[in-house]
Amino acid sequence: MNAALPRVVVLGSGAGSNFEALAEQAGGHYEIVAVGSDKADAPILDRARRHAIPVFSITPFDYPEHTARDAALARAIAGARPDWVALAGYMRLLGAETLAAAPGRILNVHPALLPAFPGLDTYRRVLAAGAREHGSTVHFVTAELDSGPPILQARLGIAANETVESLEARVKTMEHRIYPQALAWCAAGRVAMRDGVTWLDGKRLTKPIIVEETDE
Ligand code: GRF
Repeated sequence: MNAALPRVVVLGSGAGSNFEALAEQAGGHYEIVAVGSDKADAPILDRARRHAIPVFSITPFDYPEHTARDAALARAIAGARPDWVALAGYMRLLGAETLAAAPGRILNVHPALLPAFPGLDTYRRVLAAGAREHGSTVHFVTAELDSGPPILQARLGIAANETVESLEARVKTMEHRIYPQALAWCAAGRVAMRDGVTWLDGKRLTKPIIVEETDE
């Protein structure tokens, strides 16, 4: 472990491809010191073990009551002494104690061009709405679902023959670029949330930094 690097705890419930991207692109920017899940058998935990990163799980089975589960998650996070917490496919709302474990320093990646399409099932809903573009947003986490101030946004045009599967694959490829980038900026102290908005290099962001799929 490198004591000098900002410490990051990642939380996820599923496949963990974004965790993998964060781990692979950590190089000198930050160190992932623990990975937690609400599912004891989540694939993201196996990925973390392969990187020799300590894991923990705080499950509804062990903590059926929401307040106790929130407190246990907050304790597990605090025990890892993180500078930043990165949600990577974590499928539960954070409670007040968990939010307070790293106040203003929790990030999420959401597969939509927020504020459009918060919530679940975004790919199907975007295609059903006949949208022309889609993407993903890295944003600060607040108590409201998917509504904290955005940092980086990946945008792509929707193809005529687009399917849920093809769109998800394209969006995930973009997430694997923008999430490590945003976390590196945060770890370097370039990005912060103040007064409910995002600041980058001392300037208030009125909209997220946009990365197009075609950008290299
Ligand atoms: C990502 O698409 C992210 O936008 C959403 O959950 C998904 C997690 O995928 N919040 P993975 O587990 O990182 O592969």
